[in-house]
Amino acid sequence: MNIQRISVIGAGTMGNGIAHVFAQNGFSVSLVDVTESALQKGIETIRQNLSRQVKKAVLSEADATATLGRITPTTGFVSGVEHADLVVEAVAENNDIKSQVYHSLAEATKPSAILASNTSSISITWLGAQSKRAGNVIGMHFFNPVPVMKLVEIVRGYETSDTTYQAVFALAEKIGKSPVTVQDYPGFVSNRILMPMINEAIYCVMEGVATPQDIDMVMRLGMAHPMGPLALADFIGLDVCLSIMDVLHRGIGDDKYRPCPLLRNMVTAGLLGKKSGKGFYSY
Ligand code: CAA
Repeated sequence: MNIQRISVIGAGTMGNGIAHVFAQNGFSVSLVDVTESALQKGIETIRQNLSRQVKKAVLSEADATATLGRITPTTGFVSGVEHADLVVEAVAENNDIKSQVYHSLAEATKPSAILASNTSSISITWLGAQSKRAGNVIGMHFFNPVPVMKLVEIVRGYETSDTTYQAVFALAEKIGKSPVTVQDYPGFVSNRILMPMINEAIYCVMEGVATPQDIDMVMRLGMAHPMGPLALADFIGLDVCLSIMDVLHRGIGDDKYRPCPLLRNMVTAGLLGKKSGKGFYSY
């Protein structure tokens, strides 16, 4: 299958990073969001990240300009997706919103279009059922910051076809990423391993084992992690961490995945990490 035209739905942190990487690798991308301001913010982030790459001599000024030129922002859902060979969905991690998007995609896209979700925890099999085109639905799970992180988890839903899987795997390699194939179980591989570690670090804070700074220092200096688990939780968003722990707990049914009560309290109090200005650290 020849994938040429790509639509990315959602211009937030993940969506703009995904659009950036596809455009940098020569693809025309239409970046779809519901408001002009969300699109402007997304494009501005791409511009800043491109100029960071130019400063580091990863990219020439001309390539950065061409990359930006390949991205068309639009608030028109139908016009944004109707010609796409591949749609990458990166909307909020909310079942109702995702369900609505997959119903609309089934109406608005070509029957052959592949629908890939960047979800970090929602079942690909369930998204496939929403689209009524489950063979064409797959997970393409990128990592933040998308232009930097090499991994893409390719998540095969229960009914994802071999054609869809092979096309998406090859595409991930084409854009310079290292794809890893995983089956559709809660948290896939990345978050099934990462989130319990973050959750355990939060238990250490709650029980007063050490300060957040010291817990992070243990993992940075002792285990060579680039960021400590609490700084990473703030970077990902504490609400996202909680929702992934809830998915693991509910989906696997083992109490070893119970979310730490301190995590729940912080989210309830509005401390969501970097995006709210306060989490385990202040920003
Ligand atoms: N776009 C482009 N380049 C970027 C960038 C961006 N948004 N952010 C950072 N960079 C580049 C920098 O220019 C720099 O490039 P050089 O190596 O060429 O100098 C490099 O990345 C490192 O950045 P910095 O020097 O600014 O800072 P750093 O060394 O502290 O690295 C980091 C920052 C890359 C974020 C690093 O701390 C890191 O790898 N942290 C862990 C990130 C991680 O775990 N991400 C996964 C989160 S989980 C997720 O996304 C999925 C989920 O389902 C929850």
